[in-house]
Amino acid sequence: MTEIRFQPRRAAGPESVTTEALIVPVAEGEQHSALLRRLDRKLGGALARHVRAAGFRGQEGQTLLHRVDGSGTFRAVVLAGSGKPAARTLERWRRMAAAAARAARGEGARRAAVFFPKATTEEMAAVAEAIALSGYRFDRYRQPPKEPKPELSQVALLAADLDVRRLSEALDDLRETVRATFSARDLVNEPPSILTAAALAERAVRMCRGGAARVEVMGPREIRRLRLNGLLAVNRGSSEEPRFLRMRYRPRHRRKLKVALVGKGITFDSGGLSLKPAGAMETMKQDMAGAAAVCAVMAAVGRLEPAVEVTAYVAATDNLPSGSAQKPGDVIRYRNGKTVEVLNTDAEGRLVLADALALACEERHDVIIDLATLTGACRIALGTQVAGIMGNPRDLVDRLVAHGSDAGEMLWPLPLVQEYRDELKSSVADLKNVGGGFAGAITAGLFLQEFVNGAQWAHLDIAGPAFADKDRPYCPKGGTGFGVRTLVRYLMSL
Ligand code: BES
Ligand code: MN
Ligand code: ZN
Repeated sequence: MTEIRFQPRRAAGPESVTTEALIVPVAEGEQHSALLRRLDRKLGGALARHVRAAGFRGQEGQTLLHRVDGSGTFRAVVLAGSGKPAARTLERWRRMAAAAARAARGEGARRAAVFFPKATTEEMAAVAEAIALSGYRFDRYRQPPKEPKPELSQVALLAADLDVRRLSEALDDLRETVRATFSARDLVNEPPSILTAAALAERAVRMCRGGAARVEVMGPREIRRLRLNGLLAVNRGSSEEPRFLRMRYRPRHRRKLKVALVGKGITFDSGGLSLKPAGAMETMKQDMAGAAAVCAVMAAVGRLEPAVEVTAYVAATDNLPSGSAQKPGDVIRYRNGKTVEVLNTDAEGRLVLADALALACEERHDVIIDLATLTGACRIALGTQVAGIMGNPRDLVDRLVAHGSDAGEMLWPLPLVQEYRDELKSSVADLKNVGGGFAGAITAGLFLQEFVNGAQWAHLDIAGPAFADKDRPYCPKGGTGFGVRTLVRYLMSL
């Protein structure tokens, strides 16, 4: 996978551009605009004829691929419908760009140019983001193709009126976010026997190298010394060692806030002795997607250097049954004094998150945000494209929802219904690790809340969107890197 280089430049009109695939966003009803008429004149009227024949009207999701034969300055024009201007969100721009990039790649283009009739810097950056993100592939486990395909590697971003400096800055930030998203996708897509807890830790160290984030890797001895007993309990069934990561970025100058990120790093979730059925295990390598996002965000933050201090905590192990595995009925004693009766070993995420949240609380942060593929219930409630978000205060939740919306990552609030707290009552310990069967995403959130001790806290249940069950506009089937772009935006906004 080659990294795409973007070149922002001013250009008078699309007809004078030299490239292989020329992409022009077209708003609904603008298919015969003055600009397109100029382009059409250069193409001897063939474009307008094609537009008419195909019924292209610039509707959202419509693309028209027009091949140009002969000795023109481009081989193909891709008209990309961008819909009604009023309804055009950043996400619409991304989808449009992903569709156009697909068409350009289909033509074997190595170079493309996007000519924007009208767009803000932010919208152009979103287009670049989607073109870059849509280039992701995970093919390290495939035979190399006999004939390597040409890769789209250079994209010019053109407009008559363009703030080159501001767009270049946005593109610099974007490069880090895209890299981080790809790293998170890679970590999720890696087979679970390769990406063990130890391997995840090594990859986190490698990802952060060269940046300003430091990674501390703790093995079984330090984990025991820290009394991270939830992680140890889940790890008991495994023949792989657990790892606990603390990653820290300190800004060079002013520090406005201290933010903690917490990631669930179950490298494979079989359910443990409360074993999952075979089908449910097929994609359980994704159960470290929260950890993957958090590690990737730290790598990006180390390079983007926001003005906030960021500390990440990642608890990593697989969840497997064996003669030494934890058993339903076992009790875990946490470092904050709370005890938990484990009634279902498949509710393991909350057990390891509890350690990390308790530790984060002791180390005093202004805000704590955790990411976890925590419950199948959340996936059932919100589907595969929306994450559940819970927490306090409401303002933190709202801000994350807003950043998610800008980033193209949908988050939706679920209520932490205090009345349901009773469902976590145990007959032998302070809490049990499962609720009554309804509102599983919420009872999981309430469980975590027991370990956050009044801090400002948001919990993102990404069990739905962490893994794409089929190809999406700018993400192939598999790990999505969900959360990376929202968190980077949030941290850069502080
Ligand atoms: N890792 C799963 C949740 C999950 C399901 C993530 C589907 C991604 C896709 C989690 O550890 C789990 O098994 N949760 C149980 C909780 C239950 C035992 C209370 C679940 O959702 O069934
Ligand atoms: Mn589980
Ligand atoms: Zn799990």
